[in-house]
Amino acid sequence: MGIKYLEKERLFKLDTPNSSYVCGIFDPEGFLLHLYYGKKIGDDDIRYIAQVYTYPFSPDKNNRDRGMFLDRAFFEYPTEGVGDYRQGCIDAETVNGHSGCSLHYVNHQILKGKPGIAGLPATFDVMPGAVSGEESICETLMITLNDDPTGLTVTLFYSIFEGVDAIVRSVRLENSGTSDLFINKVLSACIELEEGKRDVITLHGSWARERNIERTAISKGIYSIGSIKGESSHQMNPFMAVADRNTTREQGEIYGLSFVYSGNFTASAECSQFGSTRVLMGINPKGFRWKLEPGYVFNAPEVIMVYSAQGIGQMSRTFHDIMRDHLISGANIHNKYRNSPRPVLINNWEATYFDFDSDKLIAIAKEAAKNGIEMLVMDDGWFGKRSSDDMALGDWYVNEDKIRGGLKKLVDAVRTAGLKFGIWIEPEMISPDSDLYREHPDWAIAIPGRTGTLMRNQYVLDFSRKEIVDEIYSRIKAVLSSADISYVKWDMNRPLSDIGSYALESDRQGELFHRYVLGVYDIMGRLLEDFPDLLLENCSGGGGRFDPGMLYYSPQIWCSDDTDAIERLAIQEGTSMVYPLSTMGAHVSDCPNHVTGRTVPFETRGYVALAGTFGYELDITRISQEERDMIAGQVEMYHKYNELVRTGDHYRLTSYRENGLNDSWMVVSKDRSKALLTYIKVMARPFKRSVVLKLDGLDPNKDYRISCDKDVLCTDTGERGGNGLTLRGDTLMNAGILINEDSSDMKGDFRGLLIDLTAEDLLV
Ligand code: GLA
Repeated sequence: MGIKYLEKERLFKLDTPNSSYVCGIFDPEGFLLHLYYGKKIGDDDIRYIAQVYTYPFSPDKNNRDRGMFLDRAFFEYPTEGVGDYRQGCIDAETVNGHSGCSLHYVNHQILKGKPGIAGLPATFDVMPGAVSGEESICETLMITLNDDPTGLTVTLFYSIFEGVDAIVRSVRLENSGTSDLFINKVLSACIELEEGKRDVITLHGSWARERNIERTAISKGIYSIGSIKGESSHQMNPFMAVADRNTTREQGEIYGLSFVYSGNFTASAECSQFGSTRVLMGINPKGFRWKLEPGYVFNAPEVIMVYSAQGIGQMSRTFHDIMRDHLISGANIHNKYRNSPRPVLINNWEATYFDFDSDKLIAIAKEAAKNGIEMLVMDDGWFGKRSSDDMALGDWYVNEDKIRGGLKKLVDAVRTAGLKFGIWIEPEMISPDSDLYREHPDWAIAIPGRTGTLMRNQYVLDFSRKEIVDEIYSRIKAVLSSADISYVKWDMNRPLSDIGSYALESDRQGELFHRYVLGVYDIMGRLLEDFPDLLLENCSGGGGRFDPGMLYYSPQIWCSDDTDAIERLAIQEGTSMVYPLSTMGAHVSDCPNHVTGRTVPFETRGYVALAGTFGYELDITRISQEERDMIAGQVEMYHKYNELVRTGDHYRLTSYRENGLNDSWMVVSKDRSKALLTYIKVMARPFKRSVVLKLDGLDPNKDYRISCDKDVLCTDTGERGGNGLTLRGDTLMNAGILINEDSSDMKGDFRGLLIDLTAEDLLV
């Protein structure tokens, strides 16, 4: 690992365990050009790659045709307006209304460690699982560039972490001139790839269908995704990967970019006239205009870039590692849930919706306790006059008609029953029918004189204003301080619209979207400072804000309001392409499922939820005795496998989304001594009732003892009884195992099974 400056060649080189990244200064202009990102290479002089002298004319030799250079070169941080007609990273407008920009090298610095980014979530430098203060395992390169005519200074930051095949980038702007500048666009990362046949992979969705995988061929032109909803959104996740056309799950090259931000974003892949691809990511310029006064600084959020030469799976595992070790719970790395099992919770939303009182909750808690569940979460409806989603957001006072005797009394009763207590809040919102709105109608984001667009009958509070954040936080803090509360589900049930703030000056209205996100980060940061052991679960109408920015505050995020275990297969597959399993909020819920109407065996619902945080979302007092009796065993299963699921390497084997038949995945411990395979049969095939499944991620030379919770494995004699068999890793990965879907245990719809693999050397 290391960052080097090759002085003679004026090249910067970043090496991760398996990748290299090279950019360099090209004189006499001092352009910073991108040279290489890919498999690890030597410290050679590769300036020839930039083709500066083979372009029609290099700029210093021929200013007459300078545009031929600008529109073709690979820029490290491309600008717009002066002759590069591809999409660029920056648009800074002067008070005269001009916005051309050209950046030239000023200086650079290589640091041990990694500076934080003021006000924003960011990856951090500590040994995995350790606390700060230990020796740094991170290096940072800062390259400063400037644009003389505007006085704009741009500093590019690049950090690498020991043992991690990722590079983290961010950008800082400073107005070093004497007049105001208006920043209309500031993206955080660019990668430039030589011509080749490539696909772009993104995660798209909608409410109840988040993060489905989309793969599309890149052709000439621009493929672009993004959000202008003020949150990262259900529709598009702030992730984009560019892969060779032949890249598969475990083979081939892929570049993944993930944006550590929770607001508007853009990501694009542009195929130029020469067949090269420029990939960009950053804050969406639509709706963004930031006034940068002389001497002021603007920090753009960071992008995690992962290169894998071993397919999509390896890219995912690298994202999981860097997020688990260097991002999650960064707001409070001492938080006890950062890297430990989370309590198995039961949430009352699908059990009661708004129709509950303290007696009902205590009844659920008592029954839950008997079955091994560890925490009760009281969802929406406990405050103000909230009897439906039409009112009371902002009135963060306990409704004593429902919670009789107050919150402390309820929480004490739940604690006495043996459970921890968690609570739902939606701090960013205000209902028109609320005391808060009656008192402060100007606190909602709105365009004066225009009827605001309601969604779920609510407006969004103007969190760009500190006094509003302060007031909401003091109300929430009072509630959380009044009782022994271990968990908060932080919801956000509508996107932003009608972008206007009653407080911002007219030339700063374009700052509202970003200032709003900064306000959200600020209040979440305060919450974790005041309640350091709180388990925070982010949620936005399900998974509308499932992004790396949120993971800095909450180690888990509710994946989707679609809790149907079969629908969840695609949602969880897409989510796990970028995000660790430990972050995926997943529960066993009621059936027929409230969203799809489908009934899936209770057991299968448990297997699917096991791939995430695991918990329950049903009325435990009303389900059948047979199902209730299965809960204790499921909780035991969670405790047995959670360590592996939370910390292991994830391998996808088959995808129901692709094959229409079954879904399967594995989690393998880092030392490859233990593995868990989950197999879900979705569709039975009358003509073929057995499946050969090839495993992955095992040590090829280790013998593994196989045990399965069902009698479905076949031996070579055709007899059942593979359970207890020992096979070598290479056999399991290449020849595979035979699953008999005709076995009585697997008959019927939507059956699942778990296979436990333990290395023999661990058993002796
Ligand atoms: C959102 C969440 C649900 C539930 C409701 C409460 O839709 O995703 O889980 O908390 O809000 O109103």
